[in-house]
Amino acid sequence: MKIAIIGTGYVGLVTGTCFAEVGHQVTCVDSDQAKVKLLQAGGVPIYEPGLEELLARNVAAGRLQFTGSVAEGVARSDIIFIAVPTPPLPDGSVDLSFIEGVAREIAGCMTSYKIVVDKSTVPVRTGEKVTETINRYCRAKVEFDVVSNPEFLREGSAVEDLLHPDRIVIGVRSPRPVAAMREVYAPFAAPLIVTDLHSAELIKHAANSFLALKISYINAISVICEATGANVQEVATGIGMDQRIGRRFLDAGIGFGGSCFPKDLSAFIKIAEQLGCDFGLLKEVQRINARQMDRFIKKIADTLWVIKDKRIGVLGLAFKQNTDDVRMSPAIELCQRLQAEGARLRVHDPKAMPKARVVLADVEFVEDMNAVAEGCDALVVATEWSQFKQLDLERARRALTHPILFDGRNLFDKDELERQGWIYKSVGR
Ligand code: UGA
Repeated sequence: MKIAIIGTGYVGLVTGTCFAEVGHQVTCVDSDQAKVKLLQAGGVPIYEPGLEELLARNVAAGRLQFTGSVAEGVARSDIIFIAVPTPPLPDGSVDLSFIEGVAREIAGCMTSYKIVVDKSTVPVRTGEKVTETINRYCRAKVEFDVVSNPEFLREGSAVEDLLHPDRIVIGVRSPRPVAAMREVYAPFAAPLIVTDLHSAELIKHAANSFLALKISYINAISVICEATGANVQEVATGIGMDQRIGRRFLDAGIGFGGSCFPKDLSAFIKIAEQLGCDFGLLKEVQRINARQMDRFIKKIADTLWVIKDKRIGVLGLAFKQNTDDVRMSPAIELCQRLQAEGARLRVHDPKAMPKARVVLADVEFVEDMNAVAEGCDALVVATEWSQFKQLDLERARRALTHPILFDGRNLFDKDELERQGWIYKSVGR
């Protein structure tokens, strides 16, 4: 299939590359000319496991190209995916101006039937608006279909998620684009459901909100565990073995972050409000998430007594493991809150330090995770990178004033650390 992807962020770039990998002819479009140049020169603007090799292979095979021109992308393609940002507005609703702008641009240069697919996460009923906009701005008055095809990729495993999806959702207003959409996804051999446009749009917000709810649920349980001496990981395993519940997304910690869950929750609450429904359940999910961070900081303050002038080593800056993304990262929030209390920080992240430098001031960035503890009063684990489990604990113990570790992601074995003489505080254990 001949496909254009408008927007080369995490979603657009990974989607375009994986479409090329399965044999489609893909043109990726971005308005950021510097990014287009970087991609054309073989560079990759984000860290995503597996992406770099895949990208190079498909560019070399002539299946993947980059341009700054929407008109070029549209002219070369039968199906146009919109994968531009939908950032939050101050009141929690979604800024749809990028979607609207791209819809107008596509409309302006369409000269034959096209399928316009929305892949960005958007409020229910956005597809209707996109249809209206294209109708209004389409000079050539050609036919088109608008389709909703939400993405379910997780950063850090986006390539894997895209190549081996749990399901594909196609939302349509008429049967006409269905065959072509099936063909796009045929190589992925995944279950595919066809729904109406509104349902497909809703599936995305409902799925992300449910996953966030699952995390807040286990975080709420972690509070009960701490109050009773139970172990949240054992509780999670015990309930997760029930297939109706499932173990995934039941890891307690310092709360969820990233560019999706916080934004999508606020948006979904706002959308519900605009439709006359009070989604109180999701407001509670947000409250639990915020309280989880407060509780962790209180744990640090209670143990260190005074945070001011303490040197604290922080392991992890990305919002989760296997990514360099620090947007809405709980780890960054934690650093900033500790700094506000007067702490001096030494920080490390395997991939996110370049991006963290832009948002974190007055911290020492340490290249070697085993050197972070030097001269510190305590260590904090803020991101669930699995390599932190390989930390040289003996070296850290010697380097710290006193061996104190706050593990916000439950990476270490509590009994083992306590046996080694650590003051070890984790979440819900
Ligand atoms: C999320 C969804 O998982 C994807 O399905 C969706 O496509 C994507 O949003 C999106 O809307 O684009 P992502 O934000 O990349 O993906 O990352 P997640 O793996 O979902 O993690 C989100 C946050 O939850 C992280 O801060 C992570 O540390 C936290 N988390 C996750 C927990 O605290 N506990 C868990 O058990 C799982």
